[in-house]
Amino acid sequence: MIDTSYFNSRKFLVIGGAGFIGSHLVDGLLARKAEVAVIDNLCSGRLENLDLVNPSLSFLKLDIGTHEQSNEGSELDKLVADSDFVYHMASPIGVGLAHKKGFDTTQQILKDGLNVVDSCLRHRKPILYTSSSEIYGVGGEKPLDEDDTAGFGLQPRWGYGAAKMAMEHLIAGLSREHGLPACSVRFFNVVGPRQNPKSGLVVSAFCSAAIEDSDIVVHGDGSDRRTFLHVIDGASALIAIPQSEELQGKSINVGGVENISIRELAEQIVTIRGKGNIVFKPHEEVYGKGFAPVSDRRPKLDLLMNATGWKPEYTLKEAIEGCFETMEKELLAP
Ligand SMILES: NC(=O)c1ccc[n+]([C@@H]2O[C@H](COP(=O)([O-])OP(=O)(O)OC[C@H]3O[C@@H](n4cnc5c(N)ncnc54)[C@H](O)[C@@H]3O)[C@@H](O)[C@H]2O)c1
Repeated sequence: MIDTSYFNSRKFLVIGGAGFIGSHLVDGLLARKAEVAVIDNLCSGRLENLDLVNPSLSFLKLDIGTHEQSNEGSELDKLVADSDFVYHMASPIGVGLAHKKGFDTTQQILKDGLNVVDSCLRHRKPILYTSSSEIYGVGGEKPLDEDDTAGFGLQPRWGYGAAKMAMEHLIAGLSREHGLPACSVRFFNVVGPRQNPKSGLVVSAFCSAAIEDSDIVVHGDGSDRRTFLHVIDGASALIAIPQSEELQGKSINVGGVENISIRELAEQIVTIRGKGNIVFKPHEEVYGKGFAPVSDRRPKLDLLMNATGWKPEYTLKEAIEGCFETMEKELLAP
């Protein structure tokens, strides 16, 4: 259902475009003959993720969260003004980071986000913001739909989800009160090639442990359940969503359909790798006191599927294999 003429010669700004998901989005946009400008401070993203010789791609190394970037005429502001559409994907990520550095994580999401939102409002530019399933907090046993309310308290982990939720309010307000096309995507776990081995996300941690012959550490008893989405399917959702008028002003779940326990995930990774030693550690031993565990989290995807016809094309096995392929090159490089 993707209309390729929508992209031809349009200028897209991808903030955080050298990162894991952002770089696959950039590939998808370039393949559709769009012009793409990437801003990234390379704190977790990598230049190797980008096809820098492509004449339709430009790159600027920039931290978007500074005071200077909040000003009219800043480098961020000029690139927003020069674009037809803005994807804001830059963010600190990971539950572990949020738990250990709650203040920095929350502050960074808000500072980055305010600068981008102010600029989009100033120049009346459409925006897609990448939020997270963390906004659902402790979640529940049934698949989560977009109207399910967040449930979280002041434990440090939830600073990330609360800041993302605050950003969703700003994005919804851009649409409702300022009439701009604007929406948020709530990613559930995304997996695949170019995953950063140091991200601390579960598949990345398990795959890097398997490659380096260290223990695959499952937190808790491994009964927590999650879904995982191949990153190329994630990027294709990001490409489909802006074309749907129905989705403007909304927050949209984007995630996988295979719901498995973390224990099963670890076992699948060992099977794919052909080796690996799984051990179990209580959450408290890993994170210290005050960690807020989440037992089950999976998305309802009807809103996205009905509005765009999107559906995942790849299996979890393919996503894990893709993850191994690029991580191996990085971790085993001489
Ligand atoms: N990977 C997942 O499973 C997942 C799940 C839920 C939500 N998300 C969201 O999706 C988005 C992309 O995540 P990802 O997995 O690709 O992460 P990533 O870390 O690979 O990408 C984020 C990019 O933003 C850049 N960046 C961070 N802060 C910046 C700043 N202040 N200025 C400029 N650049 C900055 C990083 O260098 C990186 O390239 C994020 O908003 C994240 O919160 C991801």
